[in-house]
Amino acid sequence: MRALNNPYTPNAGAEPQAVVGRDDQLASFDLLLARIERGRTEQSMIITGLRGVGKTVLLGQFRGKALARDWVVVELEVSKHDDSEFRRDLSGRLRTALFELSPKARWTDRFRHAAAVLKSFTVSVDPTGVVSAGLDVDAAEGFADHANLAMDLTDVFLAIGQAASECGRGVVLLFDEVQFLSKVQLEALIEALHKMVQRKLPVTLVGAGLPQIAELAGDAKSYAERLLKFPAIDNLPPGDARVALSRPAEEERVRFSEEALAEAVSITGGYPYFIQELGYAVWTVASESTIGIDDVRAALPAYEAKLDTSFFRVRLDRATDLQRAYLRAMAQLGPQAQKASDVAQVMGRSSQNLGPTRAELINMGLLFTPEYGYAAFTVPHFDQFMMRAVPHLVVPEIGRRRRPGTAS
Ligand SMILES: Nc1ncnc2c1ncn2[C@@H]1O[C@H](COP(=O)(O)OP(=O)(O)OP(=O)(O)O)[C@@H](O)[C@H]1O
Ligand SMILES: [Mg+2]
Repeated sequence: MRALNNPYTPNAGAEPQAVVGRDDQLASFDLLLARIERGRTEQSMIITGLRGVGKTVLLGQFRGKALARDWVVVELEVSKHDDSEFRRDLSGRLRTALFELSPKARWTDRFRHAAAVLKSFTVSVDPTGVVSAGLDVDAAEGFADHANLAMDLTDVFLAIGQAASECGRGVVLLFDEVQFLSKVQLEALIEALHKMVQRKLPVTLVGAGLPQIAELAGDAKSYAERLLKFPAIDNLPPGDARVALSRPAEEERVRFSEEALAEAVSITGGYPYFIQELGYAVWTVASESTIGIDDVRAALPAYEAKLDTSFFRVRLDRATDLQRAYLRAMAQLGPQAQKASDVAQVMGRSSQNLGPTRAELINMGLLFTPEYGYAAFTVPHFDQFMMRAVPHLVVPEIGRRRRPGTAS
């Protein structure tokens, strides 16, 4: 069928024609904002899930909901940045948020104070004043200049929260890829958020990230679990997965046969990104206004080739030979979380010996630790891909360390 009408969206963060299966999270978000609007407190949340399950799409839905309620939205995609860059990125966006809360011409003392605190927050990382341009205030001495991210961020949130509260509006920070926050950054955010809850100020944070974030947050602050919940989103149950496939087609007056839907759901395992890729490929090969099981099967080679060469391959390309061998050994054991010692055994090494490799893979976002001693793939169906991409396990020699003092 015509590429022009293809209704599927196999792209990172692309809003699908039908956002299905996320009603609970959407309702939680509405409740969070509604309660804060009434001066009540509510646990904020960090959405967790594997790659491609729809975290970014969900944050996009939250954004729409917040704007519809006249909240100011601060979006940030976290990357591995040092604290100075993090400060700069965040303050640039908070500066915009202040202007969105109220145009400068109408700023009250509260707003001018918030601007001055924000300026203080950036002084150390932005000596030329690029980030704070347009604020037209002097830095507020004694505020957000403690050279401590948690204390400084708390000052900033307090000042912005008071300004927002004065004009009867709220600010919601939507942070994506939160697993990339450093421990210091995560702790600082949790501490600042805690203060907002204590003071009942209308600033809140909703994040999304890979599953290890729940553990990272728990380690960061003991009260994180009371402040935040960590709803996990996953593959869609079969009923929802069918809707995710059939509804976009129906809008183009095309329907799937029951058999075709069942086959597609089974191939994709209900993973949203896979559903979009398969839907896209099926649309390309189908010629009739009813899509049959043969169309789904005919689309399979293109679907697998697309996943292998993009989604999966980019992840493997960044890995060293030893990291690859580790992933391949894990894949051999199956899709579920694996014990470090079992992987080591497959590789004929000790877990101690492979500890650094495992840690690197976690750091690269390829693995996460669902429980102590275990690691799992952050990408669904990665085990199947590894078995296809690396048919034979080859464990490279780990270079023998030279003893100190020996000549080279
Ligand atoms: N609820 C949904 N129903 C149907 N399709 C969806 C849904 N949510 C997301 N998708 C589709 O799934 C794909 C992945 O979505 P998204 O980029 O939001 O995932 P993600 O969890 O943010 O992935 P990553 O961890 O790689 O950033 C996109 O192609 C999107 O269109
Ligand atoms: Mg994403």
